[in-house]
Amino acid sequence: MSLISGLIFLAFMLLTGFRELSPEWKKYQNEYKELLIKNAKDEATKKKAKSLDVKIQQIYLSSLKRIDRCTSCHIGVENPLMANAEIVYKQHSGDYLKDHPLDKFGCTICHNGQGRATNLKEAHGAGRDTHWDYPIMPLKYVQSSCAQCHEFEMLKQNRGEIVAAGEKLFREKGCKGCHKLNGIGGILGKALGGIGSQPIAYFPMKYVKDEQTPYSWHKQHFDDPRNIVPESEMKIDIKDKESDLLTTYTLTLRSDEIPQQYRRIWQSPRSREAAMDGEALYKMYCIACHTSGKYSIYDDIFKRTIPAIMNPAFLKSIDDKFLKKIIEEGRSETQMTAWKADAAGLSDEKINKILQYITRDRPAEKSEPFILSRFNQNIKNGEKLYEVRCQMCHGPKGEGGEKILGISLVNPVVQKEADPEFLAITVRDGRQGTPMVAFGSKGLGLENQDIVNIVAYVRTLSSKK
Ligand code: HEC
Ligand code: HEC
Ligand code: HEC
Ligand code: HEC
Ligand code: HEC
Ligand code: HEC
Repeated sequence: MSLISGLIFLAFMLLTGFRELSPEWKKYQNEYKELLIKNAKDEATKKKAKSLDVKIQQIYLSSLKRIDRCTSCHIGVENPLMANAEIVYKQHSGDYLKDHPLDKFGCTICHNGQGRATNLKEAHGAGRDTHWDYPIMPLKYVQSSCAQCHEFEMLKQNRGEIVAAGEKLFREKGCKGCHKLNGIGGILGKALGGIGSQPIAYFPMKYVKDEQTPYSWHKQHFDDPRNIVPESEMKIDIKDKESDLLTTYTLTLRSDEIPQQYRRIWQSPRSREAAMDGEALYKMYCIACHTSGKYSIYDDIFKRTIPAIMNPAFLKSIDDKFLKKIIEEGRSETQMTAWKADAAGLSDEKINKILQYITRDRPAEKSEPFILSRFNQNIKNGEKLYEVRCQMCHGPKGEGGEKILGISLVNPVVQKEADPEFLAITVRDGRQGTPMVAFGSKGLGLENQDIVNIVAYVRTLSSKK
């Protein structure tokens, strides 16, 4: 061993030795002891305080598989005399420890952090240079822990209002339109089960500002997904404060097994969902993309139009059977996923409820019929008309999509399942309030024969890839 490395070794031994002799927790406990002595009102309490043994405090939680030494510093959590003390000596606020006794729950089950560590940096693990998987949770998100063991219904009324509000937002902002949870949901984003216990290394921190923790990642990602993941296709429509609520909810989605004796959850998420009505299901699965369903939207993120599925002209022209088929099969090669049970996971019953909701304001009178059998078809003529009248919006091959307004006319569900009469009526009558105007005699003045030809041509488009 060279002289230099020998010296470094010696210095290292001295340093670590020094740290062992005056560990941080001792400093806090000594200060706590002094505080107790100073504040003692009588001799007996003073004597008791003086005899306090300064030693590592540890709570061993076998069924939770944890050892929490947090009380080595936070030694006053149960002492009412410390109600107004500095944060590290303070009596714990609220009834949290009364309802969740120290020796049964510890601290990390609610706060995260590294239970075994006895110095601040490692125990809290929140600095840029510590790489502990689960850094201490900012207090504003701590309610996420409650949902490991309690129902949202109970939490809403009993000190869990933040996490309950987050759960409501999750249900109503259409998150499951793109994310599976408990086996049901869209596929544009990843399944969210377990996301709340993903270790820090899972999150790309490149664009995260301030503290680089999973907590900041989620919050900033909800504030604007594309600030954190530039190519993201995530859609989110929330107000300022709501990113904190959603972060709290997202952090409830942990994969840790909570032992039965700790759990106070009686209803499974699936049975909660089974009780939802059509409107609630629409919000959960469709609203993020289709919004109110009243307007057709050219979406800058998807680079295609999202159609107005509650438009009266649309509802008038389409029957339930075909509408249901579209929902079940989705539209391949677009963001519209197949919702049936063996794809996104919606049961027949749920799809029916959504269908009823979408069609609840369908106008009483049906579209005027279009009897195609009265006409002969001329595909060549149809092609010419398509090029002049339709191509600019639906694309040369009917594919819809980037920088044009029209939706896809070539996906299998339209080509195989659409009734030609539905297509002809759509072209003749258009969809008021969307870019798809009426091309028939009441609109741009195409003859019915022209429309028949165009539809015949449109029906050949799938082979033109
Ligand atoms: C070495 C001593 C020490 C240990 C060990 C320790 N803490 Fe702390 N803790 C502190 C101090 C000092 C503060 C106040 C200053 C700060 O936040 O850094 C604090 C603050 C906190 C806060 C309040 C944070 C806030 O945002 O106001 C929480 C919650 C907390 N600790 C929980 C824990 C938990 C849980 C553990 C065990 C995993 C733990 N601490 C272990 C010293 C410690
Ligand atoms: C049942 C969940 C739960 C457990 C267990 C728990 N805490 Fe807390 N703790 C909370 C919540 C919730 C808050 C935030 C209270 C608020 O903001 O009103 C909090 C707040 C705190 C604070 C900030 C100061 C205060 O009192 O508001 C500290 C420090 C803290 N906890 C430390 C601990 C330590 C140390 C333990 C273990 C002895 C522990 N907690 C156990 C839920 C818990
Ligand atoms: C690890 C599971 C677990 C976590 C985490 C947890 N609790 Fe509890 N909680 C329990 C259990 C178990 C009881 C019943 C205590 C007992 O009977 O010993 C309880 C009791 C309560 C009670 C008393 C009323 C009742 O239903 O018995 C309230 C209120 C409460 N918890 C709220 C919360 C809040 C708020 C949080 C988050 C800050 C939280 N709990 C975190 C398991 C948990
Ligand atoms: C239009 C589809 C869409 C909607 C709606 C949507 N997301 Fe996403 N989400 C994505 C995509 C795509 C990603 C991957 C790119 C990224 O990280 O932004 C993603 C990423 C995420 C991630 C990170 C997941 C991981 O494993 O990295 C979380 C958490 C998340 N979304 C939560 C939500 C929540 C909560 C909502 C509802 C408020 C929501 N998303 C709504 C598409 C969506
Ligand atoms: C991730 C975004 C997204 C979600 C979530 C979504 N859709 Fe769609 N939907 C689209 C897009 C994009 C199209 C147009 C595709 C095309 O160009 O063919 C579409 C098309 C449709 C159509 C065809 C309308 C027409 O004019 O023929 C119906 C019906 C529909 N969606 C219903 C639903 C229902 C019901 C849900 C919820 C269960 C839902 N969608 C969820 C993006 C979405
Ligand atoms: C100005 C742009 C534009 C033009 C031109 C246009 N469309 Fe459309 N078309 C749309 C839009 C946008 C939609 C979706 C409307 C909605 O429901 O929100 C649509 C919807 C359709 C649909 C319904 C598809 C479905 O799955 O529900 C058919 C069929 C259709 N167009 C055919 C045509 C034909 C044929 C022409 C030419 C005669 C044409 N369109 C011209 C923009 C256009």
